[in-house]
Amino acid sequence: MIDFDQLRRWPDVEAPELVAYDATDRLLLDTAREAVVAHPDGVVVIGDRHGALALGASDLVDGAELRVHQDALSGELALAANAEALGVEARWRSLPLEPDLVADARVVLLQLPRGLDALDEIAELVAAHAHPDVVVVAGGRVKHMTIAMNGVLGRHFGDVRAGLARQKSRVLTATSPSPGSGDPAWPQRRRHGDLVVVAHGAAFAGTSIDVGTRALLAALSAEADAPGLAQAAHVVDLGCGTGVLGASFALAHPAARVVATDQSWAAVASARLTAEANGVAGRVEARRDDAGASLPAGSADLVLLNPPFHVGAAVHAGIAHKLFDGAARLLRPGGELWCVWNSHLGYRAALERTVGPTRQAARGPKFTVTVSTRR
Ligand SMILES: C[S@@+](CC[C@H](N)C(=O)[O-])C[C@H]1O[C@@H](n2cnc3c(N)ncnc32)[C@H](O)[C@@H]1O
Repeated sequence: MIDFDQLRRWPDVEAPELVAYDATDRLLLDTAREAVVAHPDGVVVIGDRHGALALGASDLVDGAELRVHQDALSGELALAANAEALGVEARWRSLPLEPDLVADARVVLLQLPRGLDALDEIAELVAAHAHPDVVVVAGGRVKHMTIAMNGVLGRHFGDVRAGLARQKSRVLTATSPSPGSGDPAWPQRRRHGDLVVVAHGAAFAGTSIDVGTRALLAALSAEADAPGLAQAAHVVDLGCGTGVLGASFALAHPAARVVATDQSWAAVASARLTAEANGVAGRVEARRDDAGASLPAGSADLVLLNPPFHVGAAVHAGIAHKLFDGAARLLRPGGELWCVWNSHLGYRAALERTVGPTRQAARGPKFTVTVSTRR
């Protein structure tokens, strides 16, 4: 038996109010137990946060290998770290959200994603490639679940049932997959003027362009001839999402090379497709990474950043500060961090402290764009 209380979130952000597992993990494992034990070779885990689901399921499959997809790189690393710390003999393969993940699967344990598009992409993939008798056991915290989730699952499965809530979590069980007849709906694409945005379901803002991102794009375009931008040869789009900032910059500055990096699988896969769709794939490398940690220190002339200010459901500034630290590490002295943030967050002091002298490039009713020069 896995002792869930031993699990940690590390290397994800840790704080007293942030947990490494919740009642949904236990409910999913209890609900799916019979099916998992009956089909140990056909078990797939999707959306596991920090390893509770995969390690719990591995306890039931007698050494069989699980297939696992976690959008966040920190989740993958936490699963591995927890397996090692607990001395668990679990076997699993981490896979992208692609057909091999779910081919012929008999049981899918799913921590429901927050977004309906993310759920739609997962459900579409499972329905198209899993065994016809697959059972999808999808759970979440009741406060994060909406009736629309039943509808999304219902588009891809003939039977969707809601279980009773337990400790404020609930499970939806979907069976009778109906594979669509046409091309997959995901990833999706949309044109915005000169830019095409391609998005997987879990990517931030989907195929639209976030208002904060727009504010940063406008500020970048207003100062496109300034030396810090015009002469930037090595650019990092940090926390790139669908890669809007990196692709736009590459289009506007034909000599620049961009690394678009994010810890989300959906983001990196989307950024790669966005770069291809805009004809800049030769100069934009998409890389899954934690705050750019695998890139050399001092290697960037310019970092573009629209940081998140939510961690999962809990409001927490930890990630933004981690990305400021990452930007400071990546920039060469004199290099610039262009950052957009909700004005009420007052990040300026943190940027001054972490990166260097910071000026305001633009300010609207909601957003502030700052330029920090690496000291
Ligand atoms: C507000 S979104 C911005 C996305 C994109 N730059 C845009 O403007 O549309 C923030 C992004 O940061 C990413 N992110 C969060 N934590 C990260 C980390 N530790 N390392 C890299 N990226 C991270 C999220 O996955 C998300 O895509």
